[in-house]
Amino acid sequence: MSTRPSILIARNVFPEVLAKLREHFDVDTNDEDNPLSPSQLAARLQGKVGVITTGSERVDAALIAACPQLKIVANIAVGYNNFDLPAITAAGVLASNTPDVLTETTADFGFALLLATARRLTESEHFLRAGQWNRWALDMFAGAEVNGSTLGILGMGRIGQAIARRGAHGFGMKVIYNNRSRLDAQTEADCKARYVDKAELLRTADHLVLVLPYSAESHHAIGAAELAQMKPTATLVNIARGGIVDDAALAVALREKRIAAAGLDVFEGEPKVHPDLLTVPNVVLTPHIASATIATRKAMAHLAADNVIAYLTQGKTVTPLNPEVAGQR
Ligand code: GLV
Repeated sequence: MSTRPSILIARNVFPEVLAKLREHFDVDTNDEDNPLSPSQLAARLQGKVGVITTGSERVDAALIAACPQLKIVANIAVGYNNFDLPAITAAGVLASNTPDVLTETTADFGFALLLATARRLTESEHFLRAGQWNRWALDMFAGAEVNGSTLGILGMGRIGQAIARRGAHGFGMKVIYNNRSRLDAQTEADCKARYVDKAELLRTADHLVLVLPYSAESHHAIGAAELAQMKPTATLVNIARGGIVDDAALAVALREKRIAAAGLDVFEGEPKVHPDLLTVPNVVLTPHIASATIATRKAMAHLAADNVIAYLTQGKTVTPLNPEVAGQR
């Protein structure tokens, strides 16, 4: 019987990442790559000291209690709302995420979605593919101006700042933002961003991009009341998390043209999508792919693996969420 520590990789990763982990551990994999239910995950984690998860796996108090040998949970994502971090911390289990390596790639995608939404890219492509294009017209798929307009950002962490820099420096946009805490003056100057309260952000933005973490506090941060405060010409982009936007209220606002358009990469209850969003034309929908370039997804998987290797072989942490628990288990 092997004396090497055992770990589980809850979802498929790149072969080189698997190979790197196999140099140190007995590695159990989920070759079907289906998201594991809490009970499947608990069963697969018996006798395991580490697990690599994605946003699809929930790690909560019940799971941690059912897996007394577990020492580290390493998420392949910067967001970690799938973790009950206080419960994981209380049990002395180290948790890690994958910050930084995805910042610029995710900001690129935020901008792609903003452009696609404002310039009605997918709506016009569907029209063309359906064979409906039989003449050119001056106002055909005329959308909203991006260059020189006002870019609003809700949530000004690393990704929000990277989007602000693209807007300000690349597209000559006026950037306003709201965040739990105001940025220091140097960072505001680098991003050419002005702090405003949420009401002014909603009222003033031509394009509003959501980049805040999901929590009980940010649940439905954009609902019917907030949508009603936005300009009827405004676009809304959500690359943060499902649940930050009230999707049912958004579908109504889009259908009634209370805002012009939305671009959504994340959804409440994904991979299910609110059926009303599928029938409104003025929305661009993508399946949670903001960080999905090959290089970045590899970097994220490598970083999660590095967290597990460093912690289990040397007691070191790379990008911990709760460094205070190191060594407790
Ligand atoms: C993706 O959504 C992430 O949090 O990395």
